[in-house]
Amino acid sequence: MPSKTSIKIKQSGKQGRQAGRPIRFRSSSEEVLMNWDIWIRQFHRWLSIIFTAVVAAIFITLGVGVEPAYWVYLMPLIPLALLILSGLYLFALPYAGRWRSGRRTA
Ligand code: HEM
Repeated sequence: MPSKTSIKIKQSGKQGRQAGRPIRFRSSSEEVLMNWDIWIRQFHRWLSIIFTAVVAAIFITLGVGVEPAYWVYLMPLIPLALLILSGLYLFALPYAGRWRSGRRTA
């Protein structure tokens, strides 16, 4: 027995946009901003994997009794710095969305 929510999703899927087609926004500049937001989110997601892999590799190296060179310890700082920048951007997104829509209606 499907839940009320799943019925709603199925119905809106039939009546709404066709699968695979992009959602249309009110203006092309809004669409560009939206694509940029998606790009930053993907960038943040993949960077988090790279960061995690580098940190894990350092721990594994230490675990097998090999002391890595000093610069190896600094390596995670590169993806971490980019994670901070993209993360702060993602954090600001909901507020920027309100600001953007506020400006449009003003
Ligand atoms: C260091 C500063 C960081 C900041 C300020 C930050 C901030 C954020 C914010 C605001 C979001 C969006 C949450 C939402 O959906 O509303 C996010 C998503 C995410 N963050 Fe971070 N983050 C940081 C670091 C990291 C690190 C170190 C990792 C993992 C190693 C990480 C992994 C992720 C992942 C996987 C997502 C979900 C991305 C997606 O929706 O596809 N972040 N982060």
